[in-house]
Amino acid sequence: MVAYRSSMVERTDLPSRGRRERAIEDAGYNVFNLASRDVYVDLLTDSGTGTMSTDQWAALLGGDESYAGSESFEQLEESVRDVMGFPRIVPAHQGRGAENVLYGSLVSEGDVVLNNTHFDTTRAHVANQGAEPVDCPAPGAFDPDGEGDFRGNFSVDRGYEVVDRVGADRVPVVILTITNNSAAGQPVSVENTRRVREFADRIGATFVIDACRFAENAGFVSAREGEFEGDPIADIAREQLSYADALVMSGKKDGLSNAGGFVALREEDLHEQCRQRGILYEGFPTYGGMAGRDMAALAVGLREAVEEGYVEGRLERVRTLGNLLAERGVPVYTPTGGHAVYVDAGEVFPDIPPEAFPGQTFVCELYREGGVRCVELGSFAFPGADRPDLVRLAVPRRSYHREHFEHVADAAAAVTNRENVRGLEIVSEPSTPELRHFTAELRPR
Ligand code: F0G
Repeated sequence: MVAYRSSMVERTDLPSRGRRERAIEDAGYNVFNLASRDVYVDLLTDSGTGTMSTDQWAALLGGDESYAGSESFEQLEESVRDVMGFPRIVPAHQGRGAENVLYGSLVSEGDVVLNNTHFDTTRAHVANQGAEPVDCPAPGAFDPDGEGDFRGNFSVDRGYEVVDRVGADRVPVVILTITNNSAAGQPVSVENTRRVREFADRIGATFVIDACRFAENAGFVSAREGEFEGDPIADIAREQLSYADALVMSGKKDGLSNAGGFVALREEDLHEQCRQRGILYEGFPTYGGMAGRDMAALAVGLREAVEEGYVEGRLERVRTLGNLLAERGVPVYTPTGGHAVYVDAGEVFPDIPPEAFPGQTFVCELYREGGVRCVELGSFAFPGADRPDLVRLAVPRRSYHREHFEHVADAAAAVTNRENVRGLEIVSEPSTPELRHFTAELRPR
């Protein structure tokens, strides 16, 4: 089902093969360096790349750009209260700004922070505080051929193992990322959320939900978790978020906006601490790095994100891309997650060893074949981590159609059937290993 129609279009072209060959070489075999005009279908990220609704555009024109006391801020606060159930927010320019505000307030040097799986900016912000980020994914979360309805869950057993080793005093924060972006966008059950709440209480930690994709997660709960089967997505979302002490949110995902983010809080003291840090890094507490018009659009987007028709269509779209790829013999992580399809590039190119980056090789070949841009989340993006060489094809919200997905699947199938593909080697890389894949340059081996 599709719950909307297009009322504005953006022209796109497939550049010629010769132009694509030159573009990827000039980009140093790193698709972050490609100009968007050289990309035909852009599946690099679902972050800030979606299509806004007519209601969002209307709200945007009414944005209140006052430095202090902006009405657009009040609208955003009200939406967060209604949709997410949190009474207080500190606005930020995007999710990572919110991470800096919250984790800068909660985490100190020598601490250990637990998360089902840290997303890269979360990991970097925890490390930036001098703390150690430790992942506690459910067993089998990284097995592309595994099974299970909620493979994004937090392993509470692993959490206790870490606490037994380092001591509860060193673990001030437990984070639950829903959906679990770094584990193939897999959902987290409400039952698991309750268990993490209990765990956090037991060790005296603050329980934070990274709510970037909270609405997609609620869609999965409605479809798969017995207790909630068929319940309204808006109710499930509020219930799941109700267990947390604080939220980190990127408006660029399930805020259905092109910019913005916030921290949502219950407790007054932590709110005050975050507000002060927000002033330093983001801006005055009634705009925090967003224009008034961005807050107005985000206030509407949050409400649209939990509408049944939107969420069902969203999950169906991503599933369709996954099915089209699987039908053509491309090995994909199943079941598909909420915002993206993950291809197991290690299986596509078994002869390319991890140190020659089979995932990044797949990314470059897919661009050369079809002008499709996607992102590697394996040995190139996570140096030294023990994880499969996955490639993420993220689907921007309300933007692409079945014809685009068929094009992507045909191109990916051609790449999968290609022989004698060489891997890549790094020519230059930045000094921060966590952020290597954004700017490193490579060449064929
Ligand atoms: N947390 C999660 C789970 C994310 O996926 C992201 C961003 C952030 C925090 C940071 O938010 O981009 O607004 O600063 N993920 C994007 C992606 C970039 O492509 O997955 P941000």
